[in-house]
Amino acid sequence: MTVVPGVNSAHIKNFGDLKAAARNGARQAVWDFLEGGAGAERSVAANTDEFDRWVFRPRILTGSKPPSLATTYLGWPLRMPVATAPFGADGLFHPDGQLAVAGAAQDVGALALAPHVSTHPLEKIREVAPESALMFQLHPVGSLTNFRRLVRRAESAGYRGLVITADCPTAGYRDRNLANQFVYEDVMRGNYQGEKDHAEEMFGEFRAMSQPLWTFDYLAEALAETSLPVVIKGVLTGEDALLSAEMGAAGVIVSNHGGRQLDCTPATLRQLPEVVEAVGGRISIAVDGGIRRGTDVLKALALGADLVVIGRLAAMGLCAGGRDGVRRALEMLAAEMVKSLALLGRSSIAEVDRTMLQPA
Ligand SMILES: Cc1cc2nc3c(=O)[nH]c(=O)nc-3n(C[C@H](O)[C@H](O)[C@H](O)COP(=O)(O)O)c2cc1C
Repeated sequence: MTVVPGVNSAHIKNFGDLKAAARNGARQAVWDFLEGGAGAERSVAANTDEFDRWVFRPRILTGSKPPSLATTYLGWPLRMPVATAPFGADGLFHPDGQLAVAGAAQDVGALALAPHVSTHPLEKIREVAPESALMFQLHPVGSLTNFRRLVRRAESAGYRGLVITADCPTAGYRDRNLANQFVYEDVMRGNYQGEKDHAEEMFGEFRAMSQPLWTFDYLAEALAETSLPVVIKGVLTGEDALLSAEMGAAGVIVSNHGGRQLDCTPATLRQLPEVVEAVGGRISIAVDGGIRRGTDVLKALALGADLVVIGRLAAMGLCAGGRDGVRRALEMLAAEMVKSLALLGRSSIAEVDRTMLQPA
């Protein structure tokens, strides 16, 4: 792993500090790629704004113990109910990219979701986080043969599960990237480095994002030979959550890709109850989009999520200070969650429920 000298995130005390440090560490086009979204960025704004629509109903004198954030996801123990999102082109933010992210997640007992189009190969990412319950994210594109090549590599490397990103049949219409004429393909090829004869064909399939065959049935066929649990990412409706459960998925991630794909979607937090009602209890439910604070995590859990996933927050940590910066972002979330749980009169994640919230 590259060691970048002089990086120290001790001065980062809150989300504002983190954002400022990240902003400092990135050139304009990279910052626009990180922060921006599709179209007029209405989905991006909706995601964060939705958290302000809920406020807490604290209980007093509950005699609760100092809170623990320990939980399980798909049966795996975690020290906090948080995963880092799969974000590709990660070498734009720091040379260590997802090596730093997976390492930081392991440091604090969070889950990491390593992306298909990472800067470093999936095997190297597994090497820096050998003890954690790492998952590998795949785009359902291209031929079955090439898709299964990557599934087999994830299995051999010891990944514990797969995340299928289903909301990306084509890249979103991202105004800022278009204005910047931003090209970043060279930092998305980590997983093709070891493919020798197939590298160009496989990357070509990813670039084309051609998915005429990729339906729920086709995906089930593509995954028939793996015993790894599969989670479908990009679900926004009860209907698709139900279809995911029926195809045998172990979970879904309620997500609009951080508002980077289709603009003018509802906030993911708004859609969460619909998904919980459709499949709650049958499969695990994670949510991402707009999580910036520990209180945001608690609101998502109170509305029925088992796990929350952080994208930009982790990417900002990476920009701000590599592994140290991502760890700092995760530690800030955890610290605020612990304090807030205590102030809500709760001792554990199991005690987080809907009665904790009311509309603002
Ligand atoms: C810079 C960046 C790159 C991303 N790349 C991917 C990707 O390769 N695959 C994927 O499934 N999602 C990708 N995402 C979406 C995230 O996984 C996640 O859904 C989103 O960031 C959550 O919203 P948030 O950023 O508000 O936390 C990316 C997000 C960002 C910010």
